[in-house]
Amino acid sequence: MDTSKKKLTTVQLRSMKSGQQKIAMVTAYDYPTAKAAETAGADLILVGDSLGMVVLGYETTLPVTVEDIIHHTKAVKRGAPNTFIVSDMPFLSAHISVSETIRNAGRMIQEGTADAVKVEGGREMLEEIKALIRANIPVMGHIGLTPQAVNQLGGYRLQGKDVESAKRIFEDALLLEQAGCFAIVLELVPTPLATLISEQVSIPTIGIGAGGGCDGQVLVMHDLLGITHQYMPRFVKPYAKLHDTIVEALRTYNQEVRDNTFPGPEHQFGMKEEVLDDLKKELGL
Ligand code: KIV
Repeated sequence: MDTSKKKLTTVQLRSMKSGQQKIAMVTAYDYPTAKAAETAGADLILVGDSLGMVVLGYETTLPVTVEDIIHHTKAVKRGAPNTFIVSDMPFLSAHISVSETIRNAGRMIQEGTADAVKVEGGREMLEEIKALIRANIPVMGHIGLTPQAVNQLGGYRLQGKDVESAKRIFEDALLLEQAGCFAIVLELVPTPLATLISEQVSIPTIGIGAGGGCDGQVLVMHDLLGITHQYMPRFVKPYAKLHDTIVEALRTYNQEVRDNTFPGPEHQFGMKEEVLDDLKKELGL
């Protein structure tokens, strides 16, 4: 096991905020992406339910199950054993009852080996969030655009544009802090609102489409690397164009197989001539 990197704690994350040290979080869903994230020095890894869209090919995050999250979290942990891993509580896994919420989150921690869970929603989720924290499960909140509510919200739209909705998001942030969340994701809200919240809460805010006033940022790995090739939201900065690189490599491979330039001599294994001759004799060829 590589011990060169030390896993951050929730206490250290809070000190990073007070020391004005920005927190870099990225999603990962499998062994190689997690290994790359840890090697690059990510502070936090999120096994987001975005995996449903960017890895499993669903239209939304709604079909993702607790089993999916556990399966992918285990792989992420094998790739990034020294990074703090937050796993998303998927659609309905924190809504049926408090006991079912604790059981689902407990499985994500015990079987999936996540270090913490993320729960979408504000005041309406306080009972479940408080129960998780009482059960010693660290919780990251998530307000603003909550993708599991996409059908209720009418699409992936900027939230908190008017006074009433901005006030609700602001109040939700304070309630999540009071409930004991160790951090809050602010998704797709105006920069001034996210900045105001970040100034008023003592726990770190992690923004996605919420501007530079947050205490940290999170991006979906496949967007950041340009593996996602369809629609790319404005708040994403693609740092690479891996989709194009992958397609180009696969095209070249197909071509080289077809014209028999792959495998080349350097990719093949020979055989002693006398062994081949004896073999042919044995076979009567
Ligand atoms: O599922 C996810 O990747 C997320 C981030 C977008 C915050 O929730």
